[in-house]
Amino acid sequence: MSDPLAPDRGSETPTLWRVGRSYRAPLLVTQFPPEVSFGFLGRLLPTHETTELSVEAHRISPERALELLQGARAVAEAELATGGDGGRTAELEVERSSAAELGQAVARRTQELWKVGVRFVSLASNRPQAESKRARLVKRLSELGFRSRIPRYEVCESLRPPDMSGTEPRPSGYWHTLPTDGVAALFPGGDETVVEPGGTLLGLALSDASPVFFDRWSHASYSWGLFGTTGSGKSFAAALLLLRTRWLRPETTIAVLDPLGENSSWVESLGGSVIHVADGTEGRLNPLDPVTTAGDRREKAARVGTMFRALFPSLRDEEVAELDAAVTQLYERGPDVPTLGDLWNRIVSRSGPTSRLATLLEVFRSGSLRRLDGPTTARPAEPIVSVDFRGVPDDQLPFHLTYVLDWAYGRLADRPGPKLLLIDEAHLLARHAATEEFLDRVVRHVRHFDAGLMVLTQSPDDFLLRPAGRSLLRNLYVSAFLRLPQVSAESRAFFGLTSAEAEWLPRARLPRETGYAESLWRVGELHLPLAVVAATPEFEFLEATLGRFRAAPGDPASPPKGGL
Ligand SMILES: Nc1ncnc2c1ncn2[C@@H]1O[C@H](COP(=O)(O)OP(=O)(O)OP(=O)(O)O)[C@@H](O)[C@H]1O
Ligand SMILES: [Mg+2]
Repeated sequence: MSDPLAPDRGSETPTLWRVGRSYRAPLLVTQFPPEVSFGFLGRLLPTHETTELSVEAHRISPERALELLQGARAVAEAELATGGDGGRTAELEVERSSAAELGQAVARRTQELWKVGVRFVSLASNRPQAESKRARLVKRLSELGFRSRIPRYEVCESLRPPDMSGTEPRPSGYWHTLPTDGVAALFPGGDETVVEPGGTLLGLALSDASPVFFDRWSHASYSWGLFGTTGSGKSFAAALLLLRTRWLRPETTIAVLDPLGENSSWVESLGGSVIHVADGTEGRLNPLDPVTTAGDRREKAARVGTMFRALFPSLRDEEVAELDAAVTQLYERGPDVPTLGDLWNRIVSRSGPTSRLATLLEVFRSGSLRRLDGPTTARPAEPIVSVDFRGVPDDQLPFHLTYVLDWAYGRLADRPGPKLLLIDEAHLLARHAATEEFLDRVVRHVRHFDAGLMVLTQSPDDFLLRPAGRSLLRNLYVSAFLRLPQVSAESRAFFGLTSAEAEWLPRARLPRETGYAESLWRVGELHLPLAVVAATPEFEFLEATLGRFRAAPGDPASPPKGGL
């Protein structure tokens, strides 16, 4: 048999093997974590990347296994007897007791010991890609508690195919001694998938119905995105996950920006309060109140500029500049807490009552937004608050969402403990560049306050058009795709979806067909096809409350579900 690593079949660099335009980047494991879940390889080796894993296992005879285990136990005991070396005492005790336990299991023939050769190889068509794939693998391994090493100047020895004897010399990190359970855990397709301790139940794996638990608070960003066509179950999944989060961490504070007002009823059922923007029930949020930036008036002035651009997208450059000057002056010289009336006065005193800007801002004095002119009176103290935008004209929604987002951001920054902010129909904030940039900044900064966002919208394409939208998507640690009518080439490339995944998403089954939502979860680098399933009490609670509109006083009946 010809040696695939013979010199004429490629060449070695210090850390890679190259054959033509194919690069192989080996990685060895120097230390296993004390425990791994069965099927953990599914989390290590995402379906959208080509990584080769080879595992060879050689059974160690029970006599030799007992000798090895007795040796390991004796070493641990001897080190403990001499006082261990500082912080290693606990580790040595674990080594001693696990060697003893394993010894009993080997004697009873319920476990065996194996000499196992393990090697990962990242494959790519160029060197930087091979190296970056390997670097990502190193990171994923370390997240699971593995230590790994890149074999330097030992590439050929690492990549050589096994000679089946189990005795050939290999670089350190290749050979390991594992019990039967450890070897079994190396096989993909085991009976457990993602199980993060302390996590909430995301759903059941579509492959084998095993539960997937995920701990939002243990990752780099706490923010997630949920995408799916109408009726695919986004709002339901988000409410379900919020319920489960509160179950595990009752101290979690929740705010909901709810353009369709679907969440009001369940929020109230949990003792939360609802601010109705259109009719002012539960009070007013003054869009100009600098409390939202903890008194930072310059930052507040910038956010006010964003709100006005969302309300008046037709503003000309010179009007934007004039408004900016008036707002800046207002925060420099105006009252501590300015109102929209104060801003109108300032505009009038600068450019006269008949200027186009003054005419536009008339909407806050005598027009449909006059209720917003005045100090903040809504100060909900409840840990769950929803802001219901039902009844707001469509063209005013981005404006309302922007100042309420500013208010919610202030609340996130101000409160202790874990916090989640759900933004349903988030595409409304992607209509204008300025509001999209603001949302992107919020997503990037909330992590510092122990907070995360749940961004819900029908298509990821809503956020792929501009750099700010793409930055926002990049900062979502989890992106869940429920049924999508189609997967654009841009989405596919951005999220690294395989062609099989892109073809499946338009066929993912809807909750009204199955009673659960079929979905694909992109969790960090993993792609997990899951069923979002509610337990009966969860389903009954959400069915009775989600999307059920509270009857306004005097309403004969409230609409069952639907748009604005
Ligand atoms: N995981 C689920 N299990 C059972 N039923 C579900 C599930 N998800 C959604 N449903 C049912 O489907 C209905 C529609 O779901 P939902 O309102 O969450 O869709 P959506 O994606 O938010 O749609 P839209 O874009 O129109 O807001 C829910 O009212 C509920 O009855
Ligand atoms: Mg919805």
